[in-house]
Amino acid sequence: MSNKLIDLQNISKSFGGNLVLDELDLYIRENEFLTLLGPSGCGKTTTLRIIGGFETPDTGSVLFEGKDITNLAPDKREVNTVFQKYALFPHMTIAENIAFGLKIRKKSASYIKDKIRYALKLVNLDGYEKRMPDSLSGGQQQRIAIARAIVNEPKVLLLDEPLGALDLKLRQDMQYELIRLKNELGITFIYVTHDQEEALTMSDTIVVMNQGYIQQIGTPEQVYNEPENAFVADFIGDSNILPGIMIRDELVEILGARFDCVDKGFGENNPVDVVIRPEDIDLVSPGEGTIEGIVTDTIFKGVHYEMCVMSRGFEFIVHSTDYYPENIKVDLKVNPFDIQIMHKPESEDEKAVEIDERLP
Ligand SMILES: Nc1ncnc2c1ncn2[C@@H]1O[C@H](COP(=O)(O)OP(=O)(O)O)[C@@H](O)[C@H]1O
Ligand SMILES: [Mg+2]
Repeated sequence: MSNKLIDLQNISKSFGGNLVLDELDLYIRENEFLTLLGPSGCGKTTTLRIIGGFETPDTGSVLFEGKDITNLAPDKREVNTVFQKYALFPHMTIAENIAFGLKIRKKSASYIKDKIRYALKLVNLDGYEKRMPDSLSGGQQQRIAIARAIVNEPKVLLLDEPLGALDLKLRQDMQYELIRLKNELGITFIYVTHDQEEALTMSDTIVVMNQGYIQQIGTPEQVYNEPENAFVADFIGDSNILPGIMIRDELVEILGARFDCVDKGFGENNPVDVVIRPEDIDLVSPGEGTIEGIVTDTIFKGVHYEMCVMSRGFEFIVHSTDYYPENIKVDLKVNPFDIQIMHKPESEDEKAVEIDERLP
């Protein structure tokens, strides 16, 4: 018995000759909060619409609990979608909006009333039954849209950038709401966003996509700390990405200087990409580090300072709670386990590495 709730197998999709998804393989486990993360146009919404049944793939299959649902109509699937634009019916009360799907399914009046009360409680809007949508804030309307999806008791909730239209503070509040909802409901969430912070905060699993390919699948910690390639490293958080040469196991040469690292299995004298996070670089006195540099720019970011450090022609970004003035000479030092070695992509148009770090 596999724990794959939804299984996308070999999914390809083109629009007018433009290949949007290229042989995508992805499974989603029961109760997982899985996020599709990637830049605009990489195929996130298309993937979600294929799961929801609003698009048919050109090749491949969609399995739900092992059954092929590739050609099943959206309303026959045990999934419900919340879109970026909450699309409440403006002439209906909140209660009527939430009841809409239940009435179509001919549920009894008392069942519907109970469900509305339950759903409003879940999204922290008890007592809003008689209000009209335009008397609610954007965040409240989005919570109603979620309540409307929840009353149908889907096994899976599909959310396409549902917080995209909200301002920063509301977005952060809603992230906590969604985590709480997921825990209380015990259902599967498939979430689409281009916002890495949203993905890192809420997800059990992040699927990083680019140009219709999966770049990496892993926990937030895995994709942040151990990006599989330069695209992932660059997309998730700030990072210094440098060309390097793997001298041998646990030793890499960057900008002509040799750094101890913990990675193995990249061969000897092979070109690699090296990722070092800004917070993982220590600035020390000249002569005390591995490589010399000069601070060219310092700005205060609230919690830390951000320094640009020019070293042998490469401009490092460094975060530190210590202040280093411009034009000061420093050495850079990095702990071996903070150096991340990655295979160089074979071409600019980076192919999928299809690394899935979850246990099957
Ligand atoms: N119905 C459609 N007709 C034509 N092109 C489409 C359609 N839907 C999506 N596309 C194109 O497919 C690509 C991926 O779109 P989408 O899945 O919406 O990306 P994302 O959600 O990651 O921003 C884009 O180039 C988009 O213009
Ligand atoms: Mg989209």
